Amino acid sequence: MIEIYNEILKDIEPSLEDRQNVIEFSNKLIKIIMDYSKSKNINIKCRLVGSMAKNTSLMGKSDIDIFMTFPLSYPEEELKSYGLEFGEYCIKKVGGTSEVRYASHPYTTGLIDGFEVDFVPCYQIKDSSELKSAVDRTILHTDYIQSHMTEEETRQVLLLKKFMTSINTYGANYKVSGFSGYLCELLILKYHSFDRIIEEAANNWHNRYEIDLEEYGTSNNFKDPLIVIDPTDKNRNVAAALSLQKFSEFIIACRNYLSDPKMEYFQNRKIHITREELITEFTKRGTKCYVLSFNVPELPDDVIYPQINKTMNSFIKVSEMYDFRIIENNYYINSDNEARIILEYDNDEVSNIKIHKGPQIKYKENGMNFKNKYSNAYIREDKWISVSERKYKNVPEMVDNIVKKENRSILKLGKNVKDEITGNYSLNTVFEVIDQENPEDYEELFMHIYPDYKLRR
Ligand code: UTP
Ligand code: MN
Repeated sequence: MIEIYNEILKDIEPSLEDRQNVIEFSNKLIKIIMDYSKSKNINIKCRLVGSMAKNTSLMGKSDIDIFMTFPLSYPEEELKSYGLEFGEYCIKKVGGTSEVRYASHPYTTGLIDGFEVDFVPCYQIKDSSELKSAVDRTILHTDYIQSHMTEEETRQVLLLKKFMTSINTYGANYKVSGFSGYLCELLILKYHSFDRIIEEAANNWHNRYEIDLEEYGTSNNFKDPLIVIDPTDKNRNVAAALSLQKFSEFIIACRNYLSDPKMEYFQNRKIHITREELITEFTKRGTKCYVLSFNVPELPDDVIYPQINKTMNSFIKVSEMYDFRIIENNYYINSDNEARIILEYDNDEVSNIKIHKGPQIKYKENGMNFKNKYSNAYIREDKWISVSERKYKNVPEMVDNIVKKENRSILKLGKNVKDEITGNYSLNTVFEVIDQENPEDYEELFMHIYPDYKLRR
């Protein structure tokens, strides 16, 4: 096994030279920012953090995270605006292209010489009690990993990150809702080796599994699938963004890997599904699969994804209310920035009538009222029954009506997608969407049927 891991590491571990290049490059950027901030009489520090600083970056994969730390005396507004200004100044100076992104506050990302560089302003804090914004922890994280992790353990982190990338559980962003880089590092600090994590997860992990490296005893404050107390902050679960879905997929992938440790678990995920295969698959399922599409406004992923998720859940709820049973669902944003909500129904038609159960006949007065209200009321065993005409007899009819401005209050739509849906949606069968979809997005239509932990190829 060790030999296989050494083989894999050859492909994913940056060479000493790669690392030196990144350090030199980021030192150059840091100097530009320090000179500029000094010229403006602003007293900041600047340092490389994140995986590049912890030696846990996957070759060619990771971004460069540069943090500018401001003394706590600076008001938040100044920190934000200086942060953006310094980032942009630096990117411009070295001829890169910049873009503003959002975490707990806005920051600048630059594409410079093929590197993605984040310039993030934060406060200089000694410990988590001084915390003012979520990104302030990053400095503490970097210090903790740098002082606790052995060189061999950094290699084990790389194996774990690669494995997780391949089964699509890596990344704490909303799209994946998986394991963050820092979480992978803490797992290695706990179990020391990749193999141990696989074994522990496969055999011992269960819902609400607790890991508390510094023995703070605060695990009971959390109710998440996995609870990993942040060694730098006893009130924070590092695995808070991990969904139950990805937690379970990871456990099953570990079990699969233990019983059949294939190289594929460390190779780039590549899913080739053709148009014909998609059509065959959905035909075989025999479901009534619809796709609701609408344009997505230009907003950060972490704003938009939860809104689409909420919108999807609301469509599911209302569908079931009208007796249209959903058997699978999913959503994605395609490469034309169009949201696709997949609603796969058991059946898309119901009869014309709906049966309501009324009171038992022993309640004389209630029965009388019921009978007066529904002229067609009749008796079944000991209860009153009434029949009424259904509001919606098929799925398209229902969707077309509930999205109308005057009816949409029945739905809980994300606030930035609401008007896009009402004004400009389209509802198609999955077969129509397969015809329109860009081939590079085909796999997304398929993810709810065959998730990555199965390592399909
Ligand atoms: P990154 O997402 O860049 O992670 O966040 P990373 O550790 O550098 O890993 P890769 O290799 O790029 O994927 C940079 C730092 O920001 C903090 C962590 O301390 C992380 O090291 N962070 C990031 C969080 O605390 N929470 C998050 O959800 C994301
Ligand atoms: Mn990073």
